[in-house]
Amino acid sequence: MSASKRIGILTSGGDCAGLNAVIRSVVYRAVGGYGWEVVGIRNGTEGLLTRPVAAESLELSRFTGEILRRAGTILGTTNRGDPFDYEMPDGSRRDRSDEIIEGIGELELDALIGIGGDGSLDILRRLAIKGGINLIGIPKTIDNDVGATEISIGHWSAVTVATEALDHLQPTAASHSRVMVLEVMGRDAGHIALTAGIAGGADVILIPEVPYSIESVAKKIRQVMTRGRNFALCVVAEAVKTEEGQPVRMAHGGGKSTYGGIGHYIGERISEATNAETRVTVLGHLQRGGPPTARDRLMASVFGVHAVDLIANERFDRMVAWQNRDVVDVPLAEAVVRYKAVDPEGALVRTARGLGISLGD
Ligand code: F6P
Repeated sequence: MSASKRIGILTSGGDCAGLNAVIRSVVYRAVGGYGWEVVGIRNGTEGLLTRPVAAESLELSRFTGEILRRAGTILGTTNRGDPFDYEMPDGSRRDRSDEIIEGIGELELDALIGIGGDGSLDILRRLAIKGGINLIGIPKTIDNDVGATEISIGHWSAVTVATEALDHLQPTAASHSRVMVLEVMGRDAGHIALTAGIAGGADVILIPEVPYSIESVAKKIRQVMTRGRNFALCVVAEAVKTEEGQPVRMAHGGGKSTYGGIGHYIGERISEATNAETRVTVLGHLQRGGPPTARDRLMASVFGVHAVDLIANERFDRMVAWQNRDVVDVPLAEAVVRYKAVDPEGALVRTARGLGISLGD
């Protein structure tokens, strides 16, 4: 057994299903396996800005059977507030990275595990370099756009929710002879739309990586209808732009906005171009809040154990990853610079085309 250690863990960025399963895996391996202490930091890097630092020791006894199955994160998280360019309540901006580093110092950690997407992992890595912190990253995001890993925690649960949404939309579409448009998340990548669209039997899938025209989408819908079907299913990734190339975003006040609304734009254009009765569903955060699927629980368990083993072997500044049916680890720097969008020539795009699904091009 390696010498006793005290390690920290935090979740950062948007939540997703499977985060609690990662925390459980880390606690099982570190506390149960190595006999170390695990300190859970609250609300991502926000918890390191408060004094005393918002953190608690994570005991094995807390991880009863239920936490593995629960979405969200028992630690809380944030997807706001880059500590290097932190927005203060009065609207001014300040570099608060030194406060975070001090906060980590207060906890007297031997190492820190950060569970995050590409943005959060990049911030954590910059903090680790500046503060001499022994960091290990675990990739999570429903968007599945983190480089150097085939899978990030949360993605398959989101895909499952989106696929089930198509399962629920199909009977009502058929009953009313309608075109159903489903807008899904994914930030700048179309992974959720493409994967769920194939699995859920969509006729049209629009993703930001493949340019589209409404005429081409309308042609596909007319074709579906004239070939004896009375409904059609379209999946649209939230980052798809208007035909004129304008991003569609929802304002949240204070100059902040997120993607949202392209589904309604596409629905209206389809209805104008085809005369079809069209309805739009925006799936939103339902994609993040459901129980983790078996695959996400499995990946969470694999990543958590491997992350702790990296610390035991004193191999830092690395991200755990899934490649070629195996768990590996890669330099964090490599993961954060290699953004992973959908490959327009890749297997899933070829599969969609092979099935006759229109990508709108
Ligand atoms: O990155 C995860 C994600 O769910 C994106 O797919 C989406 O665009 C964004 O976060 C939504 O963020 P928020 O939780 O701030 O609405």
